[in-house]
Amino acid sequence: GERNFILAGNWKMNKTNTEASAFVNKLVGQIGNENKFEIILGVPYTALDRVADITRSSKIKVAAENMYFEDSGAFTGEISAKMLKDINTEYVILGHSERRNIFKETDEEINKKVKKALSNELKVILCVGELLEEREDGLTLNVVERQIKKGLKGVTKEDMSNVVIAYEPVWAIGTGKVATPKQAQDTHESIRRLISEIYDQDVANSTSILYGGSVKPENIFGLFSKPDIDGGLVGGASLKEDFIELANIMR
Ligand code: G3H
Repeated sequence: GERNFILAGNWKMNKTNTEASAFVNKLVGQIGNENKFEIILGVPYTALDRVADITRSSKIKVAAENMYFEDSGAFTGEISAKMLKDINTEYVILGHSERRNIFKETDEEINKKVKKALSNELKVILCVGELLEEREDGLTLNVVERQIKKGLKGVTKEDMSNVVIAYEPVWAIGTGKVATPKQAQDTHESIRRLISEIYDQDVANSTSILYGGSVKPENIFGLFSKPDIDGGLVGGASLKEDFIELANIMR
């Protein structure tokens, strides 16, 4: 099947609600509706409601950056899928390397979150990627395969139409050290093959696989010219005018 080309931003822990409103008002005015990318913005919980409101009649969709896998209860400080859905959040980013490495989320926890999000009709951006030492040890594919198999355990073929994969080599995140188009393409190709093995070729062909890690207007063309790279998950450059440039670059 056909797959969407996606430009997704991930603000991480940046921008107050006030700063978010000012920036997104500008985005809405400057990102053309004729843009052929699907455009998603991952914003902190505190800005979600407001940003969803501002983007309502634009083509920008809103993503949460995390959520918890229980429905409700004594989980101080956590946010449920239902809470996100209620404020018109369309996507949730799960398994980001910062969640895995700083907050020690396991593949099993990430899998519970993936299933809970999908059962609440939230679309998922599942992030995977190897550490520098894993790449140097030749373990990139082993790591990514484990993260995908465990992350998608119990996720049905039908549910896969609501799943996007983001490949983010950890050594390329926030470092300015972007993967070469070939390095990224090689991993993306392996990920698509793995999805065809877990599901089938049709699911593999219709799953968008995004690259993340120091994406900027200067390096986007090389990456996006590769057949298995279906867009980007952009951190630092999504906080500024660069995101408008990225969004408008290929329309
Ligand atoms: O989710 C986004 C990635 O972690 C990439 O971040 O573009 O700042 O390297 P970056």
